[in-house]
Amino acid sequence: MIPRLKPYFSGKEIISFLHAGLSSVARFEKAFALQFQCSDAIAFPYGRSALWAFFKALDIEGKEIIQPAYTCSVVAHATVLSQNIPVFVDNNLYDYNMQIDAIRNAVTPQTHAIIPTHLYGYPMDIDTIRTIVEEAEEKVGHKIWIIQDCAHSFSAAYGGRSVINAGDCALFGLGISKLISSIFGGMITFEDQTLARKVRAFRDAQFYSGHWLKTLKRFAYLLALYPAFNDTFYGFVYWLQESTPFLNRLTKAFHLDEEIRFPPDYLDCMLPSEAEVGMTQLGKYAAIIRRRRQIAQNYHESLKVPQGWKLPPLVDGATYSHYAIRVPEREKTIRILASHGIQAGRVIEYSIPHLKGYQSFVVGSDFPNAYLCSESMINLPIHPSLNDGQVERIIETVNTLK
Ligand SMILES: Cc1ncc(COP(=O)(O)O)c(C=O)c1O
Repeated sequence: MIPRLKPYFSGKEIISFLHAGLSSVARFEKAFALQFQCSDAIAFPYGRSALWAFFKALDIEGKEIIQPAYTCSVVAHATVLSQNIPVFVDNNLYDYNMQIDAIRNAVTPQTHAIIPTHLYGYPMDIDTIRTIVEEAEEKVGHKIWIIQDCAHSFSAAYGGRSVINAGDCALFGLGISKLISSIFGGMITFEDQTLARKVRAFRDAQFYSGHWLKTLKRFAYLLALYPAFNDTFYGFVYWLQESTPFLNRLTKAFHLDEEIRFPPDYLDCMLPSEAEVGMTQLGKYAAIIRRRRQIAQNYHESLKVPQGWKLPPLVDGATYSHYAIRVPEREKTIRILASHGIQAGRVIEYSIPHLKGYQSFVVGSDFPNAYLCSESMINLPIHPSLNDGQVERIIETVNTLK
C-alpha cells in the first residue's frame, strides 16, 4: 500500500543518529539558520514547545493571539498553556489559509501576536499581513508580534521571498510527517539576535537534558520507521491503524487534539541524535521540495476528479506539505482508494473552535469554512519517495472514480 506520508529517510539517518555528540544540537541550529538565512535557530523537542517558550520568554501572558481556526490544534494548545487567549480566524476555501480581511476584524486592544500559518505549504500574503499589523499597532499603541508558522511550509515563498523572515520569528515542526524531520523536534528562528538570546536563555534555564533511555527509545522508533513505511508492509500498518486500537494507543501522547495538554516530554531538550538526523535531512531539503513540486504539478495537470471534488491550487512558491482535496463523501473515498492500495489521509479532521476544550474561547462566531474542511478534507500521497509509476497509479485510480 502507498502510505499517505513517509519520512524521506535512508541509511544515512541511522548513521547520523549514531554519530551524535555534545555539540550536535548547536551544530544543527547553526546549519538550520544558515540554510534558511536567519540569524538564529533554537531547537526544541516539539514545535509546540518552541511556541510556548516564545510566549513565556517574552512574558506574553493573558493576551489575545490571532491564529487559524483550521490548523493543527497544538498551536492553540501552546497558546492556552502559556496562559494566553486564542482568537480564531476562519480559513478561505482556496488555499485554506486564514481569510486576510477577517484578520483585520479580529484585532482588539488585547491583541499581542498573530500566527500567519502557511497551511499545506501555501504561502500567505506576507505583505498584506505586515500592513494589517502595522495599522493595528498604530491603533492599539503596542507591539504585535508576527510568528510565522512554517511547520508545513518551511521556506515557501510569497512574491519570491521566503515567508520565514517575514515576521519576528518562525516556527517549525520536525516530526516524521514534516517536510524534513529530526524524528521528533521543533525549531524557532529569528532575525533579531537580542530576541533570540532571550528565548535561548529561557530554553537553557527551563528545559531538561534528555535521559539516555530516551535516546535508546528514539533509536528503536527510528529503526521501526523503515519497515513500518515500507510499501509492502504498510498494508499491515494501515490495518493496525484502522481496525485495531494498537497504534492509536502508541501515538496518543502526541496527538492530543481534544485535550488541551502537552506530551510528557515537552520540556526536554532536543536530543543530540535527533539533531544529527535533522542535519542529514537539511542536506536533502532542496531535493525534497523539488520532487513535491513535480508531483503537485503532475496531479494538477492529470487528475480528472469526480464532480464535487475540489482540487488544491498550484501556487508559485508553495512547498506542498500535503495535497489536500475536499471530497463530498470522505469515508467512502478513503475506503475505495485503500482498496486500490492507496492511503488517503483525513488531514486536519477538526475545526479548533468546534473542539470541546475551545468552545469557551468563542463567542458569536461559527467558522463555517473550518467546519466544512474538517468534514471533507483528504490528502493524497505527495512524499518525495513516490516513484513516477506510483504517481501514475494514483492518478489513474482517482480518474476512474465516479
Ligand atoms: C501547522 C502546524 N503548526 C505547528 C505544529 C507543531 O509542531 P509539533 O508537532 O512539532 O509540536 C504542527 C504540527 O503538526 C503543525 O501542523
